[in-house]
Amino acid sequence: MKAIRIHQFGEPDVLTLEKVPVPEAGPHEVLVRALAAGVNPVDAKTRAGKALYRDTKPFPFIPGWDVSGLVVEKGEQADRFNIGDEVYGMVRFPQIGSAYAEYVSVPQDHLSLKPGNLSHIEAAALPLVSLTAWQALFDAANLSRNQTVLIHAAAGGVGHIAVQLAKSVGAYIHGTASENHHDFLLDLGVDNLIDYRKTRFEEAVEGVDVVLDIVGGETRDRSWQVIKPGGVLVSLRSSPLGDNPKTYKVRGENILVHPDGSQMTQIARLAAKNLLRPHIFRVFPLSEAAAAHHLLETGHAEGKIVLSISDC
Ligand SMILES: NC(=O)c1ccc[n+]([C@@H]2O[C@H](COP(=O)([O-])OP(=O)(O)OC[C@H]3O[C@@H](n4cnc5c(N)ncnc54)[C@H](OP(=O)(O)O)[C@@H]3O)[C@@H](O)[C@H]2O)c1
Repeated sequence: MKAIRIHQFGEPDVLTLEKVPVPEAGPHEVLVRALAAGVNPVDAKTRAGKALYRDTKPFPFIPGWDVSGLVVEKGEQADRFNIGDEVYGMVRFPQIGSAYAEYVSVPQDHLSLKPGNLSHIEAAALPLVSLTAWQALFDAANLSRNQTVLIHAAAGGVGHIAVQLAKSVGAYIHGTASENHHDFLLDLGVDNLIDYRKTRFEEAVEGVDVVLDIVGGETRDRSWQVIKPGGVLVSLRSSPLGDNPKTYKVRGENILVHPDGSQMTQIARLAAKNLLRPHIFRVFPLSEAAAAHHLLETGHAEGKIVLSISDC
């Protein structure tokens, strides 16, 4: 099969298209004929040697975690799917997922049936960002109706899905994004948009129940003061939260997304009801994975970048 492999950490040109053996499905796994793979910042950080496997250097390896495609083989004890099912999911994260490939072996519990109203390109855009937003807003923050949430980087991959999940439970949403994303975010239902380049968000927002910190750094440092006592800040960045939760009488959590097929099923239900839809910023063929990483690393995507695998 064709796959992208990495033989050394570095710039996007370390992503090379190669012919490699098709993987085998283990006993509880299925083999997926992949039609699309989502691209995420963690793929680029891993490629550059700035995140996972920095120390273990497991070369060569196939990057990527988000897949959408068809079940073509089943392990002996894999009983959740049938051959021909259309499935999507986040594969093995944070272990190596090997999703930038024509075939991907996937633990069956990491998959769900693909929503019928989404294309494979759209479905592959969802897993990592929608699981992250779900686990942040619902598992860590218990966001509910009539609560208020501040979503930083609301136009990005995680942010635009978090906006739709927060909307689906009836929360009031503040979002930060530069002005060129505002029409997009108004359509998704953000109630109060802040152009972070022109306005300090802490002057436009106060007393929120939840902050979803996607940006980190000084954006996170300035976020504690806008949370009401008893509220919560959930951070996707791994740097320590320090004494801030105690100082501001709030809860603070760092999270790392994990695979969850049953959450993928709940996400598929929302998509089927048109309550959740990924916005596709750009599609590249698998062979142009390096160009996809270059674009991702500009840091200003609106929605998601996806690799199309069917036409590689
Ligand atoms: N912990 C976890 O499990 C986990 C899971 C998923 C993602 N993450 C991390 O979360 C981060 C975001 O991921 P993503 O997929 O959403 O990335 P992304 O799609 O590349 O994010 C791009 C967006 O970030 C916005 N942005 C950049 N700087 C901003 C700022 N200072 N204030 C407001 N918006 C800003 C950009 O908007 P403008 O064009 O307006 O600048 C753009 O729309 C990454 O670092 C990723 O590694 C962590």
